[in-house]
Amino acid sequence: MSPRLTLIAAVSVDGFISHGKGVPWELPADRAQFREKTRGRWLLLGRRTYDEMTGWFRPGHVPLVLSRDASLSVPGGRVVQSVHDALRMAGQAGEHELLCCGGAEVYAAAMPRAHSLVITHVRQRLGGGLPFPVISSRDWEPVLRQAHDADPEHAFAFEVVTYQRVMHRGLDLAA
Ligand SMILES: NC(=O)c1ccc[n+]([C@@H]2O[C@H](COP(=O)([O-])OP(=O)(O)OC[C@H]3O[C@@H](n4cnc5c(N)ncnc54)[C@H](OP(=O)(O)O)[C@@H]3O)[C@@H](O)[C@H]2O)c1
Repeated sequence: MSPRLTLIAAVSVDGFISHGKGVPWELPADRAQFREKTRGRWLLLGRRTYDEMTGWFRPGHVPLVLSRDASLSVPGGRVVQSVHDALRMAGQAGEHELLCCGGAEVYAAAMPRAHSLVITHVRQRLGGGLPFPVISSRDWEPVLRQAHDADPEHAFAFEVVTYQRVMHRGLDLAA
């Protein structure tokens, strides 16, 4: 059976995830919740994000890296050619959920198949960069909110919001 697909991202108030390289804010509490949610899990990442995260992975993480380079070496994980392949592999391994951790190209490819989103809405305006897909209220319902104020360790306030997809009649995410 195909696992659930969840996208995890931190997004600015104007809808961007990055200026083009790296994550544009330093939010230790958000980093901690990301590490906690992804601990020991199967992860879907774009090759550029995977390169940036070199050294971050721990035993138990299974990174599935989307790349057109089938010869890419992915210690502890695998290279995949599509979101569909990643879901199939995770499903065959008995995983109930695959976590998509970006970047922008992979969020765009994965969004149409996603069941849920865990979005850190950062109260910062980036003014441009790599976008996260639009989260329309027609398709996504917020089901959980955790707010975090700005403080000496966090230059920006943020809110982690979990969204579930509104399942419109006839919608088949596995198609
Ligand atoms: N704010 C956040 O939550 C967050 C989260 C993650 C990442 N980021 C940021 O996002 C940025 C990276 O995003 P990005 O969009 O530039 O790159 P990306 O999505 O991480 O990776 C892009 C790569 O994925 C592969 N790819 C994409 N579509 C494909 C397809 N249809 N079939 C096969 N392979 C495909 C290609 O790899 P090949 O070139 O190897 O073929 C492509 O170069 C970084 O700055 C990172 O820090 C932010």
